[in-house]
Amino acid sequence: MSVSVPSLTQSAEWRALQAHANAVAGVHMRDLFAKDAARFTQFSLREGQLLLDYSKNRITPETIRLLVDLALARGVPERRADMFSGAKINVTENRSVLHVALRNRAEGRGLVRPIVVDGVDVMGDVLHTLIRLREFSERVRDGSWTGSTAKPIRHIVNIGIGGSHLGPMFIADALKDHQRADLSVAFVSNPDRGQIDEVLASCDPAATLFVISSKTFTTAETMANAAIAREWISSALGEQAIPRHFAAVSTNHRATTEFGIPADSVFPMWDWVGGRYSVCSAIGLPVILACGFDAFDAFLSGAHAMDLHFEAAPLEKNMPFLMAMLGVWYAEFFNAPATAILPYDHRLKLLPFHVQQMDMESNGKNTTLAGAAVETQVGPIVFGGGGSDSQHSFFQLLHQSPRLIPCDFIAALRSKRGKDDSRDLLLANCFAQTEALMKGRTGSELAGVPEALRPHKVFSGNRPTNTILLESLSPFALGQLVALYEHKVFVQGAVWGVNSFDQWGVELGKELARSLEPALSGVEKLGSRDASTAGLVAAYLEAKRRSV
Ligand code: F6P
Repeated sequence: MSVSVPSLTQSAEWRALQAHANAVAGVHMRDLFAKDAARFTQFSLREGQLLLDYSKNRITPETIRLLVDLALARGVPERRADMFSGAKINVTENRSVLHVALRNRAEGRGLVRPIVVDGVDVMGDVLHTLIRLREFSERVRDGSWTGSTAKPIRHIVNIGIGGSHLGPMFIADALKDHQRADLSVAFVSNPDRGQIDEVLASCDPAATLFVISSKTFTTAETMANAAIAREWISSALGEQAIPRHFAAVSTNHRATTEFGIPADSVFPMWDWVGGRYSVCSAIGLPVILACGFDAFDAFLSGAHAMDLHFEAAPLEKNMPFLMAMLGVWYAEFFNAPATAILPYDHRLKLLPFHVQQMDMESNGKNTTLAGAAVETQVGPIVFGGGGSDSQHSFFQLLHQSPRLIPCDFIAALRSKRGKDDSRDLLLANCFAQTEALMKGRTGSELAGVPEALRPHKVFSGNRPTNTILLESLSPFALGQLVALYEHKVFVQGAVWGVNSFDQWGVELGKELARSLEPALSGVEKLGSRDASTAGLVAAYLEAKRRSV
């Protein structure tokens, strides 16, 4: 099961990078820009509908050369080839990792490239599922699929959590301009009843279609919300209405059948699609229902275009690769604990949450593929928020904390609303923040400021940023953006030598919750627990008694 992983920090390539980091530690980006008018041209890339400006990084051409050397030494190209070919690179679960198959499509007039797992080309199932998704969504959208009382569907409610929630919620929101005014879409994940009650309050049961999105169909939060939805439909419309008001996306067909969802309304997933990488699978069903199949198809094409770029572009001109290696550069040689995702577009406000799960659930690992302890901190803490709002909340720390937090700024050049002057202010702020983080402000630029205030008003600058500009918020550009981050995380996992595709770390909490629930619901007495947990349970039970 394990794979041999040579030491990262003992390698010659690592040591060369460490020496280089020491040599450039005192170099300020301000001086690099002053010396080189072509720095933007040298350190920016265009690919499809994306532009990546990575010139505001603490790098020279030598840095890129050394980062490429490290990646080659860590076998990144070989691991990439393994992923695309369907090799079982998720070794702890003995699974292939094939989100790229979900958007694999014919180039020009060629055939779709086969991808074989256990002797079977998975593309047949992938393409067949896309056809079924198109047919089902068109029937719902044109009113030929109705609820049990023959009312057309007017409300889509997705019930899922984690990857079965964050990805489709982000994309549906980002593509809001593609949504129809007469077909609402909502996403429910929280077992706090407050959320589902709030959503259902504005839905008519006779016109509501639930999509139960769960790869396993066992996730506690999703199953609890699905049961509430089921009860809501059956008490309003009768038990026989269930098949008309529920669809599912899952690998667990036995459970979906037991729930009462007819096979025709169940769309498959496969064990080679990880939850956080599943937005291009049938997990995209709520997006397809809300925005139409064509928009989703263009989203898949964008993701595929990024796959092709990632697979074929030389490493030093490869967007996901460069972003990944810059992340490694700061995490390992500048002690950067975190990275911030800062979209300057209201429609991209959920991107930080999607990337956060994708990155932290993938590379938040302490064990290498060889089963040894990792040598460094590995994956970063990922956080973020809408750029404009965040400027007025946590940006202070980004500018003046001793901690170095590399940031990604993301914006769309053109508005979907056509000419839109509000973008002048939006993008002025986006670009100005990257400029301020890069340049800082020296004491000599503070003429007239009292001596005692100067230290407070100095900005060290030299703080790295990437800027990703989408031509517009088109489905294609969004697909490219999602795949860009997926491959970035992949490359980093390969460099660190971890399995980016399992998530054993979330299991212990789930197990303990399962064993605590009977005590909280009063079915069983609390067994032996630590004093803190026992005290918290007692406080809850006491409050429960008071609220009866
Ligand atoms: O608990 C983590 C996790 O397994 C995620 O990886 C996954 O996206 C989420 O739970 C939901 O899982 P499922 O789709 O099986 O309900």
